[in-house]
Order: sequence, then structure tokens, then C-alpha cells
Amino acid sequence: MLATKIIRNLTIGTALLVSISSVHAADGMSKEKMMAMKKVMQSDIALMKPDLQKQVKGLSKMTKMQLMKIVAGHSRRSKQLTLRQVMHEVLSDYQSIVSALATDNTEQAADAARRLANHRLPIGGLIPYMAKEDVNDAKLSTLVGFNDLVEGNALRLAEAADKGDVSNATRYMGNIIQGCVACHATFRGQPGISNRLR
Ligand code: HEC
Repeated sequence: MLATKIIRNLTIGTALLVSISSVHAADGMSKEKMMAMKKVMQSDIALMKPDLQKQVKGLSKMTKMQLMKIVAGHSRRSKQLTLRQVMHEVLSDYQSIVSALATDNTEQAADAARRLANHRLPIGGLIPYMAKEDVNDAKLSTLVGFNDLVEGNALRLAEAADKGDVSNATRYMGNIIQGCVACHATFRGQPGISNRLR
């Protein structure tokens, strides 16, 4: 029973990946990297329930390519952590950067910023943690911008910190938190709302 389910899921995953593979590496990703990313996405898709697999399958090639590029920016993947747990780790790294900048510790700032930029991806990738109505091309196309605000600026901050330039490094903090806030406004909302309040 379980085996049949896994095989069916893998088959749907493979079908989706065939459509991903027709999107070629126009953005300079090497063929090897593309193959590796396809494998990662294939295993994520295999974990999804059929209705989510169907939704993902319906996304445009452009969205799939964008998702693949975001995945490509992360070499650390967890087999059990949820997005929430990853987010708390991201917050800790952000706080570590603040602490480092406040104490003129450019080495800590650079390390924490690189860790933040290469944060773990949760089990199944990002999509399973999004609300059903947010899994569409329009909503998911915003991820590229949020990704650059957070991860792009964390990497820029790390470079400035490598040069020992605390004040320049500090300038990126606002952009990073703007990325957190914008993505939360789009995909999350207020955490922990009670359904036992009127
Ligand atoms: C790609 C969009 C995105 C970005 C960028 C993002 N988050 Fe999140 N974050 C989410 C989503 C979605 C959730 C809700 C996850 C859930 O409840 O399953 C969340 C939840 C959280 C939570 C709450 C966890 C809880 O216990 O409910 C914290 C804390 C958090 N994010 C911190 C951050 C910080 C700090 C940054 C920026 C450095 C950031 N996030 C950037 C999407 C994002």
C-alpha cells in the first residue's frame, strides 16, 4: 500500500520534472547543477500529498525555474525540521549579526550572515508550508524579490564585514528585515492567532 503510494508520488514527481527539464539553463546554472536541483525538487515533490503535487504541477515553467534557483542557493537541507523551526534559526542568526555589529566583531557578523543566507531548507521545501491559496504563480513570483532582500543583502553584509567595514555592513540590516516583513505580510500574517477568541 505504502509502496504503491510512494511509487505513484514518484511518478507524478518525475512527470513534473520532465516539464521542469524543458526549461533550460538560461540563467547560467551549469548542467550538473540543474540536474542536482532537479533531484532535490523531485524528492520534495515525492513527499507531497497528491493535491499539493497537482498544484505544483500546475505552476508555470517560469515559477518552477524561480523555485529551482532559490533551492540552488541553499546547500543545507533538513530531513525533519519544519519551516517554523528553520525560521527560528534564521531569527537567531539575524540576532547574532546585530550582536556582532554592535561589538565591532566583523568576523562573527560575516559568519552569521552567511549562515542566514544559506539557511536550511525544511523538509519538503518551502511550498508545503504555504497556504493552499498562496500556491500559485502570482504569489510565488514574489519569492525572488524577498529572497534577494534577505539572502542577497546578507551576503552583501558579509562582504562588507570581511573588509572590516562595520558601518557599511550595518546598512544592510534594514533591507534584510524588510525582506522578512514583506514575506510574512504575503505568506504568513500574525503568528499564533487563537481560534478560541471571538
Ligand atoms: C520566503 C518567505 C519568508 C521570508 C523571506 C522570511 N520568512 Fe519567516 N516565515 C515565513 C512563513 C511562511 C512563516 C510561517 C511558517 C509556519 O507557521 O509554518 C514564517 C514564520 C516566521 C517566524 C515565526 C515562527 C513561529 O513560531 O510561528 C519567525 C520568528 C520568522 N518567520 C522569522 C523570520 C526572519 C527573522 C526572517 C528574515 C531574516 C524571515 N522570517 C524571513 C516566511 C518567510
